[in-house]
Amino acid sequence: MKTIHNSSEKESPLSHLQQPRGTRDILHKDKSRQNKILEIAKSITLTHGFQDIETPIFEDTSLFYRLGESSDIVTKETYTFQDRGGHSLTLRPEGTAPVARALISNGLTQNLPGKFFYCGPMFRYERPQKGRYRQFTQIGVELFGRDSYHADIEVIQLADTFLKDLGLRDSVSLEINTLRDKESRDAYRAALVSYFNIHKNNLSEDSKRRLEKNPLRILDSKDIKDRDLLKEAPLFSEYLTDASKEFFNNITKALNILGIQYNHNQQLVRGLDYYCHTAFEFVTTDLGAQGTLLAGGRYDGLVKNLGGPDISGVGWAAGLDRLALLADITLPEQRPICLLPLCEKAELECYKIATTLRAQGFYVETIYTGNIGKRLKKATKLNASHALLLGENELVSGQIQIKNLDASTDVKIALADLTTYFKS
Ligand code: HAM
Repeated sequence: MKTIHNSSEKESPLSHLQQPRGTRDILHKDKSRQNKILEIAKSITLTHGFQDIETPIFEDTSLFYRLGESSDIVTKETYTFQDRGGHSLTLRPEGTAPVARALISNGLTQNLPGKFFYCGPMFRYERPQKGRYRQFTQIGVELFGRDSYHADIEVIQLADTFLKDLGLRDSVSLEINTLRDKESRDAYRAALVSYFNIHKNNLSEDSKRRLEKNPLRILDSKDIKDRDLLKEAPLFSEYLTDASKEFFNNITKALNILGIQYNHNQQLVRGLDYYCHTAFEFVTTDLGAQGTLLAGGRYDGLVKNLGGPDISGVGWAAGLDRLALLADITLPEQRPICLLPLCEKAELECYKIATTLRAQGFYVETIYTGNIGKRLKKATKLNASHALLLGENELVSGQIQIKNLDASTDVKIALADLTTYFKS
């Protein structure tokens, strides 16, 4: 586990002037794209009855350790520190455990099903690259208290609609697998352990460690030697109990009927240990190695493991930073109306005009300095639709000069009619 104070990374002489490695300043255009995606996510999740929740950015470290010590996200990638009171805290690496904790802490386990939507920053100490950051934002949904496969279908269908609305669904494939129930997993784990024990010397160092702690994670290995061995390894599908098989079949049957295309990927396991039954990922090849845009699954034992009642859960999270890199988002163009006060008295009048127009929702900028030619150039640079000129003469006549900068036309209208003019 990484301690914030003991960073082993070399400090650059300018480190105090730069953002920390793996983090980004998200500037206006990107932020606007992210906001739009969030707006789309909020409106779709509302139609499914998911309610907003926000949990703290840091939690007691023990919360994440309860997720299973064989997960890299927990053991190698967390930012953990001691606060001034000596408590061990961890910046949340993901949102599911905090929301499950909140369900218990707030007594919401009495009021099921619980449907939650969240968006917020997560922190993982990973090697940064395109689409992979140490601080990133997840949009997620969690549905608690529905044991039946209908809940899995509901959240997958929601993800499918969300990606469609972002114009991404055609370039993204849905990979889905069943991690089955405990009985099937125990039998499969035993088969895997005996197979890999025979080939232990050919396993990567990481997978030797996984063999001890969580052999199923070997299925997820990217190591070439491991992948070679996996070709002959026992298949998960051979160890399905009837109940698990039926659960998964019901889901794929519904996906077929709904026309949601998927690929049954028997090697999909996921990087977190809390999953059972359904696991899925929406993956693209358009982002290099970081192709998973949205991922999730069922996690029936999690709430109990965190000290709550035995409540089932299923959900997903999407990386907002990754979605924003790819989504087909057109942002409305924001064009100002520019006020050009040409004398001191006009400046005061322009404060009032700006307030009136803004109250009606217009975007207004005022340009105070330079001769008229320079000010008009500035207005054009701001991509203004109109420039409003107000000088001594206009103040006396009570008429303001309006230049339509697109049509290059001029009109004079009474100050009192300004809002009506722009509204029409
Ligand atoms: P996850 O697969 O670890 O699952 O993360 C979900 C998504 O977060 C990924 O598919 C990816 O888009 C994004 N993501 C993960 N790490 C990074 C990173 N370093 N930089 C940028 N984006 C990243 C979970 O976190 C589970 N809690 C999902 C879930 C919810 N399962 C059930 N409910």
